[in-house]
Formats: sequence, structure tokens, C-alpha cells
Amino acid sequence: MAAPTKAGSIVMDCPGLDRVEELLKATYTDHVLETQVNAMCQYVISAGGKRIRPRITMLTAYGLPHFNEELHLDKVCHIAASIEMLHAATLVHDDVIDKAPMRRGQPTLNETEGNHAAVLAGDYMFTRCFNLLEKAHDFDTIIALNHTLSQLVVGELYQLEHEGDLNLDLDTYYRTIYAKTGVLFELAAIEPAIFIKEDNNLIEPLREYGRQLGIAFQIKDDMLDYSADAQALGKDPGTDLADQRITLPVLLAMKNIEQSRRQQLLEDIQNVNIDAVKKAIDETGALDLCEQEAIKASERAIECLNVLPDSQYREGLAEISRMSVNRAK
Ligand code: IPE
Ligand code: IPE
Ligand code: MG
Ligand code: MG
Repeated sequence: MAAPTKAGSIVMDCPGLDRVEELLKATYTDHVLETQVNAMCQYVISAGGKRIRPRITMLTAYGLPHFNEELHLDKVCHIAASIEMLHAATLVHDDVIDKAPMRRGQPTLNETEGNHAAVLAGDYMFTRCFNLLEKAHDFDTIIALNHTLSQLVVGELYQLEHEGDLNLDLDTYYRTIYAKTGVLFELAAIEPAIFIKEDNNLIEPLREYGRQLGIAFQIKDDMLDYSADAQALGKDPGTDLADQRITLPVLLAMKNIEQSRRQQLLEDIQNVNIDAVKKAIDETGALDLCEQEAIKASERAIECLNVLPDSQYREGLAEISRMSVNRAK
């Protein structure tokens, strides 16, 4: 994950994560008749990624008062793997929608195989996600995942609806990033508690942890789209402006730019004049303002963790929240 994490940290040495990796690999190699689609999915999964969501799931499970390794570990690993698979599937579709050429340091499936094959590979990954989740034999976790999936689609639709909308307001921005990103972090944080049948008094604060963390994470992603280089990011920056997606850095630049230069900025956004838009973001201090918002959400997430007993796992979850804002990729 990101630079600030110390070697030996519970986030990097997350318990159960090796098993999650095994499960992600086995999902495909077991299905010999589906060679072509298996190869495409393996290509995405084996490219890596930070595995933040399954880390959240594993650390949350270990941090729960009624987690019993012997009884629960293998099923929780399947749940964590299903969440990473869901995430990877949404990325494959997202790259088709965003026309993105790079992801996880390699060309996207839409770039190498074309949109049709990429959409089908993404669909197939959704089936693999449910296949992994089935192995937990728990109806409530399936209901929760299904609800998340519908929210994710709504999030992408909100985004589509507001493409090029220079009047976008902050509320709509926050609603969109919650639906497209926050809900999956929520799921990652609550699935083990749902599975273990922990009390609702515990599930609800964990849901809020995931929600606030997801918001912080997406704000940072939107900042990196204007500030990072492709090498560090493993994906092409500048995609949001190219797709006329109005994200927080641009919203805050539009809000804070002096009146006499506002019209020019609007034209620069519409004309995808990335250098001019970056200059306006820079001069209005918009990235610092974004960072303050991301830090606020990340701190709110950490406060919610008080509901868990004090442990190294709870500390790991807090660390993930800090790292989500303090990262270069
Ligand atoms: C990318 O998620 C999509 C967003 C919600 C911004 P990640 O940044 O977690 O992607 P990987 O899994 O590490 O590639
Ligand atoms: C998050 O938004 C995408 C999903 C929820 C799948 P982005 O479109 O900003 O994510 P990246 O930047 O492509 O990873
Ligand atoms: Mg994208
Ligand atoms: Mg992005």
C-alpha cells in the first residue's frame, strides 16, 4: 500500500490475506472450460492492487468481540475475497465507461481486448464474486452484497447524469462518491459482523467507519487525478477532466477563483485544458482544501472504531484510514 506504512504493521501483514490471495487465484484456475475469460480475469487480479477492502474485512473480523478463528476464519476469507472480486469487476467496467487505458500499472482490458470482451470479463467476475460468497453459506451476507451492488450502479448513474455539469453542488458530489465508492468500504467493514451475527449496535458504527473512510478515499483519488504522475499511480491521471467529471478539486477551484477569472476557468474545463485547470486548482489552494475534507472524513472514521475492543486490529483499521489520505497511489 502507500509509503507511510511501517514494515511489520498489521495492515501489511494482515491475517488471512494469503488465503484470500489463494482464493482469488483458485477462482479461475478451477474452471478449465472457461480459458479465455479466466485469462482475462487473472490478468486483472494478478496485477495486484492495494487490496484495501479485503484488509478491512480481515482486520474487522479479527477485531470483533465474537470472532473465533477456528469457526470463522475460512468463511471470512471467502467473504474478503468476494469483496475484492466485486471491486475488481467494477474497475473493469469503470475503465470501459471512463475509456481508461491503464490500471494497476498495465494496459486495461478495454485497451487490449476491446470494450465487448472487457464488459463480459467484468460480468464474469461478478459471477465469481457470488461464487466465493456462497461458500460462507450465509444468506444475510448475500443480501448485503446485493444491496451494495445496486448502490454502486446508482453511483455510476449519478456520475453519468452529471457529466459536464458545471453547476454541480457539493451535496451531489458527496452523494455520488458515497454511492460509487463509500458503499463498498461499508460492506468491507460490516460483512464479518453480519456473518458472525454481532449486535446492530456494533454493525452501525462499523458501517459509518466504512462510509467515512470511503469518502476520504475517493476524495484522495480525485486529488491524485490532478496531482500524481502515471508511474506512481499505475493509472493515467487527468481522466476525470477528459471525461468531464466534475470532482472536488475542480468544484473548489470554481468556488474560490476570483470572479473575473471564473468564466475563463469554465471554458478551460469544457475544453479539457488540463494545464490551465491545474493552474487554477493550484492558485486557489483547492488541493489543500480537499485534503482538509479528506482528513475530516478519515478522522470521523477512526472515531467510529471506539465501538470495538482495543486491539492491534482496531489500530490497523485506524491506520488504513490515515493511509487512505496519506498515499501516493
Ligand atoms: C480504485 O480503487 C477505485 C476507487 C474507488 C478510487 P483502489 O485505489 O483501491 O484500486 P486498487 O485495488 O488498489 O487497484
Ligand atoms: C471510482 O471512481 C470507480 C469505482 C467505484 C469503480 P474513479 O473512476 O475515479 O476510479 P479510478 O480513478 O478510475 O480508479
Ligand atoms: Mg475510473
Ligand atoms: Mg479516479
